[in-house]
Amino acid sequence: MDASQTRVPCFQAGDHRANEQLGLLAMHTLWLREHNRVASELLAVNPHWDSDTVYHEARKVVGAVVQHITYRHWLPKLLGDSAMRRLVGPYAGYDPNVDPRTSNEFAGAAFRFGHALVQPLIARLNESYQPIPAGNLALHRAFFAPFRLVEEGGVDPIVRGLIGLAAKRTRPGEVMNFELTERLFALAHDVALDLAAFNVQRGRDHGLRSYNDYRRHCGLSTANTFDDFGAEIRDDDVRRKLHDVYRHPGSVRFLLLLTATFFVIHTHTVHARLRLRLENVKRIVLKDV
Ligand code: HEM
Repeated sequence: MDASQTRVPCFQAGDHRANEQLGLLAMHTLWLREHNRVASELLAVNPHWDSDTVYHEARKVVGAVVQHITYRHWLPKLLGDSAMRRLVGPYAGYDPNVDPRTSNEFAGAAFRFGHALVQPLIARLNESYQPIPAGNLALHRAFFAPFRLVEEGGVDPIVRGLIGLAAKRTRPGEVMNFELTERLFALAHDVALDLAAFNVQRGRDHGLRSYNDYRRHCGLSTANTFDDFGAEIRDDDVRRKLHDVYRHPGSVRFLLLLTATFFVIHTHTVHARLRLRLENVKRIVLKDV
């Protein structure tokens, strides 16, 4: 369907970015519906509760389920069991003294690692895990396009697509896919945007320090030559390109290196990004669960 032929507005959620792409929008819709399902069941057994109580109790249940999936299922797959045990460890109970704020490095760089996992395509699958008649979608056709959820098959095909399609494999020559670097928000802008450029610029806006600074923070050596990055960036061509752009390893920005090194994360001891991410993740879980 053509975007110009429809008037479906963006969905309302706590944050308008819920509409940013169809996978995210499907997840928001799924959890909203789950909230309402839990709220109805709670009200059925607690008819004396007022609406605020029903809302907040249902919210607690859904928040706990999301955290369970994140910490017990997603993080161990992302980090591997051994890093999970070493760096996160078992949940030791709620600690009101932990600072739950998100660090500058976490939001400005570390957790943006997820941009390297995004496939250039949104799969939309039927019950047999085959494409629906409306077909799979190039990612740029799914940006801020809630009409496709309403008019092209609903939530289920998208959720099946998220299940059926693995995360993108990060390769030295293509850390972030072309749809994100050349066609970001193409529906809404005359000239499409570039997510990688956004990330680099945002790191500057937020005053993030150089990659070498964060290496030192994590107890790694300081890189004096580009070959000193060799344990993390094995690809000679990537190191050469970094040299051409930055000339000196001390000038390399944090985010760029983190994304370039993602594909060797499991092979290195305690990598800077892993560590910063975990420092933050651990703080959040200790505060929130
Ligand atoms: C199709 C998928 C995605 C798109 C199109 C997308 C796009 C964006 C955009 C446009 C920004 C704002 C950039 C800026 O102006 O600084 C952003 C921020 C961010 N993204 Fe993504 N993203 C996607 C997936 C992901 C994933 C999978 C993760 C992590 C697992 C992630 C983590 C983040 C984080 C942590 C921020 C910073 C948020 C903040 O500081 O408020 N993104 N993303």
